[in-house]
Amino acid sequence: MDNINWSGLTFGYLKTDYNVRAYYRSGKWGELEISDSEYVPMHIAATCLHYGQEAFEGLKAFRGKDGKIRIFRMRENALRLQSSARGIMMAELPVELFEKAVVESVKRNERFVPPYESGASLYIRPLLIGMSAQVGVKPAQEYLFVVFVTPVGPYFKEGFKTTPVGIYREYDRAAPHGTGIYKVGGNYAASLAAGEIAHAAGYSAVLYLDAKEKKYIDECGPANFFGIKNNTYITPASSSILPSITNKSLIQLAESMGMNIERRPIPLEELTTLEEAGMCGTAAVISPIQRVDDVERGQSYVFSKDGKPGTVCTQLYNKLRAIQYGDESDEYGWVTILE
Ligand code: PLP
Ligand code: COI
Repeated sequence: MDNINWSGLTFGYLKTDYNVRAYYRSGKWGELEISDSEYVPMHIAATCLHYGQEAFEGLKAFRGKDGKIRIFRMRENALRLQSSARGIMMAELPVELFEKAVVESVKRNERFVPPYESGASLYIRPLLIGMSAQVGVKPAQEYLFVVFVTPVGPYFKEGFKTTPVGIYREYDRAAPHGTGIYKVGGNYAASLAAGEIAHAAGYSAVLYLDAKEKKYIDECGPANFFGIKNNTYITPASSSILPSITNKSLIQLAESMGMNIERRPIPLEELTTLEEAGMCGTAAVISPIQRVDDVERGQSYVFSKDGKPGTVCTQLYNKLRAIQYGDESDEYGWVTILE
């Protein structure tokens, strides 16, 4: 792998050697299969193509200073994929099969796990899709689960730097009792138009308000939102946001740092009182927010006057990364070390 510039990697797709697949047919899951093809043959009436029967996951593997590979919280991703499957009527994948496929996909592509020094990681993308033909709006009878991996750098090209995010009130990503709590492709399709407008205007992401009242903070396009004030970690409670595993982890880390935790609706005006704000997710890790612009209303909420990440964001970021790369002991049992 002499020709990969590990520390220059962006969050993009790079071909690796193998992917791992399993089919659900006749009411049961088959054995894992190893493939070196990047393609999936499918029926032209497959439900994933027409009716969005598609859910995915995102998790990462890290190479430590000791050379060992660590996978972060894969059981949580397995459980969330089951929840997404239930949400859009797909066959649920057993946790053990998910974990076996993830481990196998990392082991088979071990040479693509970036070296410790690069600060990069191996992104693992599990995908579950409806495969059988259906023209009426009904769930498929057959499903494919596939896991591929690709080495990645930071999702936001700035890395651990502050960036501005924009509120675009005329766009919603997910409805209050819709699919926002599931990791399904349709949510991301729904976020593309606003995302493009925001990127062209210099924002790293769109910050969505609750779709019903436009009063409360929901989340960003690819990451949850959190704020810090008075030694308190505050993150939205909402029926239309993805339950982020990174956010869940940061809550535990913040608690262990002696902070209070509040999970509740966050009114937009409360942004004026926050000392720090950030986006968090597997791809985003922590991406500190420089300011939030309520674009149509011409109002700005500034968190970092000097453009530097805040001290709490920095502490949380360092702590999370230290556990992921194995620099600090994993007292929470979050990490699976590969043999
Ligand atoms: N919110 C959305 C919409 C996401 O796509 C993601 C990414 O997975 C997250 C939040 C963060 O979730 P996690 O920390 O589990 O990666
Ligand atoms: C992740 O953080 O894993 C995501 O899926 C976010 C984005 C790439 C969709």
